[in-house]
This record gives sequence, structure tokens and C-alpha cells, in this order.
Amino acid sequence: MPLRTIVRLGHPALRTPAVPVPPAQIGDPELQALIDDMIETMRESHGVGLAAPQVGEEAQIFVYQAAGPPEIPLHVVVNPMITPQARELAYDWEGCLSIPDLRGLVPRHPKVRVQGLDREGNALDYVVTGFEARIVQHEFDHLNGIVFLDRMRDLRSLAFFDEWEAYLVGGSQPDLDETAVG
Ligand code: NI
Repeated sequence: MPLRTIVRLGHPALRTPAVPVPPAQIGDPELQALIDDMIETMRESHGVGLAAPQVGEEAQIFVYQAAGPPEIPLHVVVNPMITPQARELAYDWEGCLSIPDLRGLVPRHPKVRVQGLDREGNALDYVVTGFEARIVQHEFDHLNGIVFLDRMRDLRSLAFFDEWEAYLVGGSQPDLDETAVG
């Protein structure tokens, strides 16, 4: 399974809304290969999520997985719909494989309902919270041409990774695995 090139900010794929996958095409070898490649590319890049536009494909697909803590098993979501389950927003750090080396504080809903299809075409309908909810919203945004910078309320928290580690989380038991980078 080949690794795909992750496109970076400025590539039009990151600003183009992805199109739904026709359910009858989910089983196609080409689509299954794309999903396998996305999983491998995400793991190789040490990300916790990856959306198809990040590898230049306009399909509504994202994958996510985190070694943790908290450990999140591999998920493949096709044609997702996200519904917030709580009105409030929680702030935490995010990064993006398409915006290398930057971290910023991003508000996200702490609890969202995820609906869509899995890679076999079966219906998905589940509720996620916290870190997993953050990842899902970050990846869902990619399918709509939105990146985490667009969601930041205050760009003053934006930092390069080394400086972020040294000055922003360095003093307080950084748990780098808990930073959503997708
Ligand atoms: Ni991203």
C-alpha cells in the first residue's frame, strides 16, 4: 500500500468541498485502496486523523485513530454528518498535517453525534466526546474546505511546535499525544 502525499495549505484541495461517495461505490477496489492508503499515511505521519482532501482526493472520507491516552481505535467514516450535542465550546490545542509545525487553541463542541457509513457501507451512528469529538470535528471540517486556523477565535495562541512545547505546555506535564493533529 503506497503512502500518499499530504497536501499543504495553499493546495486548492484543502479549500474545495468534498463530494459524497455513492454508496454503491464504497466496495470498489480503488476506493478501498484509497482508504487503506489514508490509514497508512496517517500512521506514518504520526497524525490522529486524516481526511481525503489532505491527500488530494475530493471524496467525503476521513479516518482517525489515536494511540492515547486516551486510546481511540481506528475509525473510517464515509459521507459523515456531525451534529453537536452540547451548546458550549471547549478550547484545546490542535495541529494539522497540512499545516506542518503549527499549534493553536481551537474551540470545539465537547460532544457530537456522528452519522455516516463505514468502509463496508454499513450505517454508523454514534456519539463521541472530548478528544475524539475534537478529532472528528477537525476532520469533518476538512471535507468542507475548512482548516483549524479558520476556527481559531484568537490567533495569538498560534505557535510553532518547538516554542509551543517550550513556553506553552512545557512547564506542565505535556501530554503531546492528546494534541489533535490531523
Ligand atoms: Ni488537519
